Amino acid sequence: MTPRLEVGSTSTITVVRWAEAVLRAGGDAFELDVPDPDVAGGAWTGAADAAGVPSRSWRAWVDLAEELGCTVATPRPLAGGRVRVTFHVLGPEAPWHDRPAGPSEDRYADPSAFGAVRKLEHPGMLLPLLAALERARPPDGGRVLVLGCHRGDEIEALGMLAPPPHGLDVVGVDHAEAPLREAAARFPDASFERADLNALPGELGAFDLVIAIAVLQSLGVDDRALLRRLVQDHLRGGGALLLGLPNSRFRGGEVTYGARTRNYAERDLSLVVKDLAAYRRYLHQHGFRTHIGGRYDLLLTATRRRPDASPAWDSSP
Ligand SMILES: C[S@@+](CC[C@H](N)C(=O)[O-])C[C@H]1O[C@@H](n2cnc3c(N)ncnc32)[C@H](O)[C@@H]1O
Repeated sequence: MTPRLEVGSTSTITVVRWAEAVLRAGGDAFELDVPDPDVAGGAWTGAADAAGVPSRSWRAWVDLAEELGCTVATPRPLAGGRVRVTFHVLGPEAPWHDRPAGPSEDRYADPSAFGAVRKLEHPGMLLPLLAALERARPPDGGRVLVLGCHRGDEIEALGMLAPPPHGLDVVGVDHAEAPLREAAARFPDASFERADLNALPGELGAFDLVIAIAVLQSLGVDDRALLRRLVQDHLRGGGALLLGLPNSRFRGGEVTYGARTRNYAERDLSLVVKDLAAYRRYLHQHGFRTHIGGRYDLLLTATRRRPDASPAWDSSP
């Protein structure tokens, strides 16, 4: 039988310790019978009612699941204004987090693994991406380079801006053949190059926007050299960059917040922070202003005044 706890005035720390003990004992699920968050309606999380029962929003239970490496099933209503929330331990990490045994081009090429992920269907990925693209918005008729483009989701996202920029000339680059073929079928107006990011073809030319999401920290990519090359050779005056570093792991079909070392439960954002700080420093030295947003991917946008723009532009970091 699935272990169950009646949560009335029980404190959060008591719930947590109880759930941790269940998981430590090898349990893969547990249930909490909790006051229906909708009934508490509008009270601050933790604020107690007259009977001393703290109010907890649905979000609080979702966060508990995330912190304990679980997912939550749809709650079932119970009598007395309570609901039963079932927590299931998340399945194993996605296979693409492993170091590849074969060629690294194959790492993200499996259509039933990374190729089946639809980042744009996840509000926590879509909305920060659109906000970042809006900051770095290319002009109508501009040129956009998408590095590590895979099946072209960033190209699709450009078309979701309101209004979408018109007449873009988009070039996607990736070293994996199958995702590139899929991208070419999805976006017949764009062009695609199969190339290693460490050896970008010089004839690519210069762009109004360069996007590189979840690719700069890939095995074998010299991110610092690539960034220098992008700034020196592939950006038009006033061109912008959108650089994204993963701050998540995919596990049991879900995206979970926070960079981690494989099979370590604890999040560790040290490397992401270090790399972003280095990119930011370099970009400031080259006259860009930067902004860091995002959630599951941390998204650094770097913009520079267009040569024809007004001089009142603020260049402070
Ligand atoms: C994690 S996926 C990210 C895909 C997409 N940008 C996104 O955020 O969903 C990394 C992509 O970069 C490509 N990639 C990794 N290393 C590369 C390299 N050295 N040269 C070219 N492409 C590379 C992979 O093939 C893969 O399509």
